[in-house]
Amino acid sequence: MSEKIDPALPKVELHLHFEGAAPPAFIRGLAKEKNLDISKIFTEDGGYAYRDFWHFLEVYEAATSTLQTPEDFHRLCLAVLEDRARDGVVYAETFLSPDFCGGGDVSAWREYLHAIEEAAAIGQRDFGITLKGIVTAIRHFGPEKSRPAAICAVETKGDFLTGFGIAGDEKMHHPKDFTWAFDCAREAGLRLTAHAGEWGGAKSVRDALDYLKPERIGHGVQAIDDLALVDRLAEDRVVLEVCPGSNVFLGVYPSFPAHPVDKLREREVIVTLSTDDPPFFRTTLVQEYEALAKAFSWTEADFRAINADAARAAFCDAATKDRILQIIEGRA
Ligand code: ADE
Ligand code: ZN
Repeated sequence: MSEKIDPALPKVELHLHFEGAAPPAFIRGLAKEKNLDISKIFTEDGGYAYRDFWHFLEVYEAATSTLQTPEDFHRLCLAVLEDRARDGVVYAETFLSPDFCGGGDVSAWREYLHAIEEAAAIGQRDFGITLKGIVTAIRHFGPEKSRPAAICAVETKGDFLTGFGIAGDEKMHHPKDFTWAFDCAREAGLRLTAHAGEWGGAKSVRDALDYLKPERIGHGVQAIDDLALVDRLAEDRVVLEVCPGSNVFLGVYPSFPAHPVDKLREREVIVTLSTDDPPFFRTTLVQEYEALAKAFSWTEADFRAINADAARAAFCDAATKDRILQIIEGRA
C-alpha cells in the first residue's frame, strides 16, 4: 500500500504552459463570445481532442486563437491560479509566448504582460500563490521568431518576468539556431530553461546543454538512455522539470511505473514535478503525486524534498525563495 499524500501539501510547479493550462470550458466560453467555431478541438465530454503530440500542438494553437486581448489573458490567469490553488500550489512559474501576445511587438507585449501581472497580484492576495513568468520562444515557429521573443523578454525583465526558454516541436531546427536568443536573454540576466529530451532523445538534451546552456531542462527524461549524460546532469546540478503525466498521456512512456523519474532521482539528478498542460493531459498536480506515490512508493517526505529542490531552482529572488522554502518545510 502506498502512503496517502495530503492533497494540501504545499507545492511548487515550475513547468506550466499558460495557454496549455486553460480549462476547456474557459476556451469554449471565449470562442462563443467571439463567434469562433473551434468545436472540432473538443471531445463529446468537453475535453480537448487530439491524436498525438503533433496534433496536440495544432489543437493548442487553435485553442490559443480565442485569446485575443490583454483582458482575455487576465481572465485566463485568474482561472489558472484558481486551479493551482486547488492543487495546493504556493509558487508557480508559467511559460508565456509573445508570439501569442501581440505577435512579438514589444509595446503590444507590454500590455498583455501588464494584464497578466495584475491578475497575478490578485492571485497572490486571494490564493496566496506567487506566480512568475518565463518568456518562451516556440521552436517550430523558427529561429527568426525567437529573436523578437527574446527582445520582448529582455525589455520587460523584472520582478514578475524572470526567465527565458524554448518549447514546441523538439524535432524542428537545432538548438544552435537559437543561441542568439538565449545569449541575448542570458546577457540581460534572465534565467534559462529549454525543452529537450521529451521527444528528441538524449542527444537533444546534450545539444540543448551545449548550445543554450540552460540551468533547467524542460522534461529531459530521455537522458535516461545515456548514463554518462545522466551523470553530467547530476554533477552539474542541472534541474529537470519533469511532467510524468504528460509523458504518459502522450505516449513517451507507457505507464507511470515505466517512467524514468525514479531512476533519475536514484542517480542523484535534481528532479521537480509539474503538469505541463494539465487539462490537455487530464491531470492535476494532486493526481500526479498520487500516481507517483503508487508507482514508486514515494512518501510525503519524498515530495517535500522534491518541492524544496524546486523552490531552490525557482527563477525568483532570494527573499521569495526563502519564504517558499519556509512554507514547504512547515516553518511558516
Ligand atoms: N508546448 C506546450 N506543451 C508542450 C510540450 N509538452 N512540449 C513542447 N512544447 C509544448
Ligand atoms: Zn512543456
